[in-house]
Amino acid sequence: MSEGATPDAACNLERSMDPVLPFTPLIRSLPAVVPFVPPEALERRNGRPLAVRVGANESAFGISPLAREAMRGAVEQISWYNDPEAHELRLTLAPLHGVAMEEVCVAAGIDELLGLMVRLSVEPGDPVVSSRGSYPTFNFHVAGFGGRLCPVPYRGDYTDLEALAAEVKKTGAPLVYLANPDNPMGTFHPAASVRDFLGQLPPDCLVILDEAYVEFAPAQVHLPVETLDPRLVRMRTFSKAHGMAGARIGYAVAHRQVVAALDKIRNHFAVNRVAQAGALASLGDPGFLAGVVRQVEEGRREYAALAGELGLRAVPSGTNFVALEIGPQARRLLEVLLENDVFVRMPGMAPLDRCIRVTVGTPQERRDFAQVLRRVLPQVRP
Ligand SMILES: Cc1ncc(COP(=O)(O)O)c(C=O)c1O
Repeated sequence: MSEGATPDAACNLERSMDPVLPFTPLIRSLPAVVPFVPPEALERRNGRPLAVRVGANESAFGISPLAREAMRGAVEQISWYNDPEAHELRLTLAPLHGVAMEEVCVAAGIDELLGLMVRLSVEPGDPVVSSRGSYPTFNFHVAGFGGRLCPVPYRGDYTDLEALAAEVKKTGAPLVYLANPDNPMGTFHPAASVRDFLGQLPPDCLVILDEAYVEFAPAQVHLPVETLDPRLVRMRTFSKAHGMAGARIGYAVAHRQVVAALDKIRNHFAVNRVAQAGALASLGDPGFLAGVVRQVEEGRREYAALAGELGLRAVPSGTNFVALEIGPQARRLLEVLLENDVFVRMPGMAPLDRCIRVTVGTPQERRDFAQVLRRVLPQVRP
């Protein structure tokens, strides 16, 4: 410390000197990006709250009253550690999927499971196959473990199953990602096509089938349980139809060897007891879930009608959001909507970035969104 300098000043000086910290070369090479700018950050940037939050595909329809009650009860025991085996929840989930509980892994949302799967199977430099512009958190994890992403273009509004399989064969990738229904386009493939896709893949490639939105999709999308195929890792979440995104809980249904491997590396206490209690109770309220699905279907129809009224195309959706095709002005529209305190998102990559992606909100949120869209669309149209 130089003479006369205060301890605080010395500390600031040290901070400003960019110390050389012992990060791995991989970590040093990573850009400082996050998969999504959160709506809270947008509010901080705007200096005011959002008026309409229909950008993050959260549920607008709350949680089951049974889940609320169970979660309140679980708060009373929050001083205890949670059950790291999520025993009761797995015991309940297993028969719902026609599998054994050793074939279910509970984690802090699909996002955590995606990272774990990459860590299980990808070494630095390994190719990993996904669709160009699909769910970016998967890509984030691939980058974080040093994988080499091999993105496959969509075919129109759809993930291209044949091209994904061809890319796996060409590159020898140990892991391929498919969201069905897809985010950000909302489109879906029938289960039979997914089965054909699996049939085309080599025996040594793991397949993540991300079914975050499957509750909102037609019955033909629901793949019969096939955990006998050790390559297939199906992922489900309580974040969407169950309305528990902030609780951070999801699960994988997979071959028991995959679940055992996940057990070797997962954060065993990651899923807190309030989330576990809420998820368990929500599973016991199928009527609530059916009501949410009905309301989402109604909202999708409303967005399609709005698109028709404004001369836009609504991409057919099996999710709780709708992609509206805007054209080259999509990004400008997104910005103008945000200036009007309306939060929507858009796909990050061409050619999907011709669309904006709007979550089905409450009837009031949908009316508010429609009102602002009608007003601002002429401002961005050429
Ligand atoms: C395709 C897809 N997978 C996974 C997730 C995240 O799921 P979770 O909240 O369980 O981490 C999302 C969230 O938007 C998503 O769109």
